[in-house]
Amino acid sequence: MRVLVTGGVGFIGANFVRLTLRERPEVAVTVVDAMTYAANPETLAEFGDAIEFIKGDIADPALMDDLVSRTDLVVHFAAESHNDNSLVDPSAFVQTNIVGTYTLLEAVRRHGVRLHHISTDEVFGDLPLHTDERFTEATPYNPSSPYSSTKAGSDLLVRAWVRSFGIHATLSNCSNNYGPYQHVEKFIPRQITNVLSGVRPKLYGEGTNVRDWIHVDDHNDAVWTIIDRGTAGETYLIGADGECDNTTVVQTILELLGQPTDAFDRVTDRPGHDLRYAIDSTRLRTELGWQPRYVDFRSGLSATVDWYREHEAWWRPFKDAVESTYARTETVIG
Ligand code: NAD
Ligand code: DAU
Repeated sequence: MRVLVTGGVGFIGANFVRLTLRERPEVAVTVVDAMTYAANPETLAEFGDAIEFIKGDIADPALMDDLVSRTDLVVHFAAESHNDNSLVDPSAFVQTNIVGTYTLLEAVRRHGVRLHHISTDEVFGDLPLHTDERFTEATPYNPSSPYSSTKAGSDLLVRAWVRSFGIHATLSNCSNNYGPYQHVEKFIPRQITNVLSGVRPKLYGEGTNVRDWIHVDDHNDAVWTIIDRGTAGETYLIGADGECDNTTVVQTILELLGQPTDAFDRVTDRPGHDLRYAIDSTRLRTELGWQPRYVDFRSGLSATVDWYREHEAWWRPFKDAVESTYARTETVIG
C-alpha cells in the first residue's frame, strides 16, 4: 500500500509520517510538500530514501494527477494553518486551502483513489466560556477567521465531491494539537522558546480563551483509526478532553521551566479571537473504538518542553523571523 501525504513536512503531517514508519512498516510513504515558510527541511531529513519526497504544490494539476495516479490512499494535511497570518494576508489561504484541495479532489475523482481530509474544529466557530457545550458532528459551520473559513470551504468541497461524484473520502475535524516539530509561530512552541531565549511569554488579551489540547500522536492515531474503520463519506470529530485556558498554559510552561508564574506579558488581542473550542468525540470512541493515550495534558506539555529544550538547532533558525513579524502588530498592554 502506498500513501500520499500532502503537507508531510509540516507539524502534524511529519508526525503522521513518523508514526506510519514506526507502526506500519508495510506502508510506503510519498510526501508532497511545497516547503513554505512552515516546513523545516530538517524535520524528515533523517529518513532519506525511506520516504519518497516530492517538492511541489497541491494546486498544480499535472503534479497531483501524476502523484494520485500511483497511490492507494491520500492523507491531506497540506494547508496554510496559522490564524494570525490569515489576518495579515488571506490570499495564500484561499489558494492552498480551497484551490489546492479542489485540485487534489479532481485528481482523486479521476483515479478513484481513497482520500482522508484533515480539518479543524475551527470550522464550527467558537463556544461560550464556562459552559458544558461542545462541538459534535452535527454542529453547524460558522467559521470566524480567513483561515477557518477556507478550511470550512475545503470541507464543503470534499463533502460535495462525495455526494455528487461518489469519491471515497472520509473527513476529520480535530482540536488544537501540541507536541514535537510544531512551528514556533504557534502558541505553545512560541512561549516555550521565548522562555528558553530569556523573553517573556506573550498572552493575547485577558488570556481567558480556552483551547482543547490533544497530543499530535493521538490525532494521528485517530486518523489511522478512521482510515481503517471509518465509513466512506462520513465526518469524525477528534478530541481528547484537554480543555485549558491560555493563562494556565503559559503559567504551566513557566513553572516547568523554573520561572515565576507571573513572568509573562499581556499583548494586543487577536481580532475576532475565538473564545473557546471543545470537542465531543463520542462518535469516534463508540463507533470506531478509539481512545487517546495522552490523557494528562501537563505531562504531555512537560515532554514537549523537554523536546524544545533538546532540539534548539531545529527551531532557532526560525525564531527571529517569527518574533519580528509579531513585533509589527503586537503591543504590550499589561
Ligand atoms: P503546518 O503549517 O505546520 O504544515 C503545513 C504544511 O503544508 C507545511 O509543510 C507546508 O509547507 C505545506 N503546504 C502549505 N501549502 C502547500 C501547498 N500549496 N502545497 C503543498 N504543501 C503545502 O500545519 P499543521 O499544524 O501541521 O496542520 C496540518 C493540517 O492539520 C492542516 O490542514 C490544518 O488545518 C489541520 N489542523 C491543524 C491543527 C493544529 O492544531 N495545528 C488542528 C486541527 C487541524
Ligand atoms: O483548533 C484547531 C486549530 O488550532 C488549528 O486549526 C490551527 O491550524 C492551529 O493553528 C490552532 O489555531 P489557534 O488559533 O487556536 O492556535 P494558536 O497556537 O495560534 O493560538 C492558540 C491560543 O493562544 C489562541 O487562543 C491564541 C492564543 N495565543 C497565540 C499566540 C501565538 C496567545 O495568547 N499568544 C500567542 O503568542
